[in-house]
Amino acid sequence: MSREPWVKPSIVMQVTGLMNKFGRRSTRKPIEDIDGVAIQELLEKYGSPLFVFSEKAIRAKFKEIKRVFSTRYPDVRFGWSYKTNYLDSVCSILHQEGALAEVVSEYEYEKARRLGIAGSDIFYNGPFKPKDSLVRATKEGAHIHVDHFDELNDLMKISTELKMQPRLAIRINLDAGIYPSWDRFGFNLESGEAMEAVRRIADHGGMRFDGLHLHLGTFILDPVAYANAVGKLLDFADDIQDRFGIKIEYLDLGGGFASSNTLHSQYLPGEEASPSLNQYAEHICGALSRGFADGRSPGLVLETGRALVDEAGYMVTSVIAEKRLPSGLKSLVVDAGVNILFTSFWYKHNVFTTRDITGLQEEVAIYGPLCMNIDVVRPSVMLPPVERGEPLVLHPVGAYNVTQWMQFIRMRPNVVLVGENGVSEIIREAETIEDILSKERLPERLKLS
Ligand SMILES: Cc1ncc(COP(=O)(O)O)c(C=O)c1O
Repeated sequence: MSREPWVKPSIVMQVTGLMNKFGRRSTRKPIEDIDGVAIQELLEKYGSPLFVFSEKAIRAKFKEIKRVFSTRYPDVRFGWSYKTNYLDSVCSILHQEGALAEVVSEYEYEKARRLGIAGSDIFYNGPFKPKDSLVRATKEGAHIHVDHFDELNDLMKISTELKMQPRLAIRINLDAGIYPSWDRFGFNLESGEAMEAVRRIADHGGMRFDGLHLHLGTFILDPVAYANAVGKLLDFADDIQDRFGIKIEYLDLGGGFASSNTLHSQYLPGEEASPSLNQYAEHICGALSRGFADGRSPGLVLETGRALVDEAGYMVTSVIAEKRLPSGLKSLVVDAGVNILFTSFWYKHNVFTTRDITGLQEEVAIYGPLCMNIDVVRPSVMLPPVERGEPLVLHPVGAYNVTQWMQFIRMRPNVVLVGENGVSEIIREAETIEDILSKERLPERLKLS
């Protein structure tokens, strides 16, 4: 006769009366698979910890943003924000869907070119564009978004030396009604700095100046800020045309849409607190519909990053140890820490088990594997009893982790894509000690005998 395994007895609270303040379960349903591929299978094949991306989710989100904006405004282009996630496979999927490239360094520029993106389909942003990269971008017809006067001077010299017209926009910072406003990038509108930049461009005469760029910041929770910014940019473009006869062709509103993650400072869960893509589109396209004073309409460029890929990324991690802290709080040590989950500093990532686990839920602190006090994945989350070896899934983690991760104490793990065909494959191999040591040089005199 087979015996049932022993299960720790527990008393389960029966809740009656009003629903809790979110009207939802205090734990989440387990994530047993990603697009049909069992978590257990992924762990067996690729090890733990593991980043998993869903091709289906990336494509679906891009189709959604495209539909949401292009059904409201006729001329919309998307530049994929490389820094959000520049894994070749992720970029390629978005390019296949029709995204152009938005890059902020010569390294990202080169990555986009190697993937086959034409220079003329690249928006080149950022406060540091080395001069030879500006020469290349000029020759290749990239959209160079100028950040400061020193860069403008470089471009003027390049234009004279090459006898070519760099194709440029200026990055603007302005007061759109959000605090704190990002004023360290680009030229300030209200102080007159942006108009001064335009005056210098007009005086020089050797530039193809056709755009205004703006990136309000990231995780902007108030879509009205975009409408305010569009109003100011349209006025500014009209002013430029009156004073210098220069016609602006496009407004690039950068990125900044919130994903469904929950900020540490937020009370409501991100799924409730973050505006929908429809809400952003409604405000942006509504404000754009006014057009320029001469009746023309600007093209709209968006560089949406986190809102496009965050939800497509999962972190599969395993419990290494369970500890009781002196305060009585239960803590778990897992094998994924802030070294590979930089966004833990920002977000309360959702934590899922991969199966139904019976037993009483308890508040738990989740720590990573690093011997550093800052390595906190979730300071507090309700979980059923999980033991050593139990897999957990953290979600959403698709934005900014596989670019901001660091090789600190541990090496970076495998990254896997679950394809639309339901097949998983590695898109970035786990690092080995040889990868890391191949960059080190030990002078002969320091070698131990
Ligand atoms: C110039 C620029 N464009 C686009 C983005 C993408 O922003 P987000 O991921 O908030 O959409 C960033 C990110 O900081 C940026 O600096």
